[in-house]
Amino acid sequence: MKIIENVSLKNLNTFKIDVKAKFFCEVTNKEDILELSDEGFFKKKWIILGGGSNVLFLDDFDGIVIKNRISGFEELLKDEEKVIIKANSGELWDVFVDYCVTNSFYGAENLSLIPGTVGASPIQNIGAYGTEVSEIIFSVEYFDIKSKSFRTIEKSLCEFGYRESIFKNDLKNKTIITSVNFKLSVKPNYKLIYKPLSDIFADKEKRSLSEIRNKIIEIRTSKLPDTDVFGNAGSFFKNPEITPDEFERLKREYPDIVSFKTESGNVKISAGWLIEKTGLKGFKKGNVGTYNQQALVILNFGGAKGNEIIQFSEFISAEVLNMFKINLTPEVNIIY
Ligand code: FAD
Ligand code: EPU
Repeated sequence: MKIIENVSLKNLNTFKIDVKAKFFCEVTNKEDILELSDEGFFKKKWIILGGGSNVLFLDDFDGIVIKNRISGFEELLKDEEKVIIKANSGELWDVFVDYCVTNSFYGAENLSLIPGTVGASPIQNIGAYGTEVSEIIFSVEYFDIKSKSFRTIEKSLCEFGYRESIFKNDLKNKTIITSVNFKLSVKPNYKLIYKPLSDIFADKEKRSLSEIRNKIIEIRTSKLPDTDVFGNAGSFFKNPEITPDEFERLKREYPDIVSFKTESGNVKISAGWLIEKTGLKGFKKGNVGTYNQQALVILNFGGAKGNEIIQFSEFISAEVLNMFKINLTPEVNIIY
């Protein structure tokens, strides 16, 4: 494995922030990770990158950036009900979804076209269109930096929540996910709670995995910006959760507020709607702005520095706080 110095990260993060890594390498297997460990790289500053689609670099990275290229899928078990697939962490997420759809494995299709890698999918428990990846995760395999050993953690211990997991909390900066084991159904099993999907696919005759995948791809490409055109990392903030009492107060003042009930009894508010209501949808300042079709996405119009994006995001959240008394929390991982 080659370790190179002074490498530009501009094409390795979808925000297209032009920073450099002091050291850079690509890992293609578990031995490469052990080699980095033996050479002491984990005792200094390090980060593993998948597709770079959920990070915001503030500055040059004064340590080693490890690009994940550990690839491959393996069918571990299959019976009349289910299949268990081991997918290595450097595989592209959407290549995995396509593989599942092609092989008639049910459960990943609603998550079509989410950028990034398999290995990052458990970290923020990626979700879209009524599905979260935790619903199909069986277990996660990782390298434990401290003990220098490979371990497996069962799904029940992963502390999955909305855009949350143990990997963003207790295990942050302590692990490298090497593969994820997924449990999918081999019998037809569709998740159609997202209204546009249930409307179209209410008729059983019209349903198929590939039809659903194609519909999701169509919706996503119409709503979300192409990272090749404008740097971005998808939703910059999480949708905030508030109590039913707070919600009643807001609903009286803003009857058209967009909200969803959560399992815990709280109410999730559309952060895009909040931002739009402050008048900042499509707002641009310097090289940075909100997307004019989805206010929750912050765009780098070219040449923006990480700090410019942070300042812009702080301005947005201050306006939302001022108008609604709601704090927005970034979803994107800020890298110092
Ligand atoms: P990276 O950005 O490379 O890394 C993210 C974080 O995970 C970093 O802290 C990194 O160090 C860590 N990490 C990455 N790989 C590993 C590993 N193997 N082991 C340990 N740590 C690791 N997200 C959603 O949930 N739903 C969406 O619908 C969605 N839509 C998006 C649309 C667009 C246009 C964009 C740009 C992003 C979107 N995202 C969405 C966010 C993003 O795609 C996901 O968070 C994705 O899982 C990030 O994967 P990645 O490989 O690019 O991670
Ligand atoms: N809305 C507005 N104005 C906007 C944006 C949204 O009013 O500018 C309202 C609309 O009523 C719209 C509703 O909010 O119908 C929901 O919007 P959308 O379907 O775009 O979903 P979201 O809540 O903004 C979340 C995820 C996305 C995921 C979509 C689809 C978060 C933080 N974001 O966005 O994930 O793709 O749902 O399920 O939960 C990401 O995490 O990066 C991401 C893109």
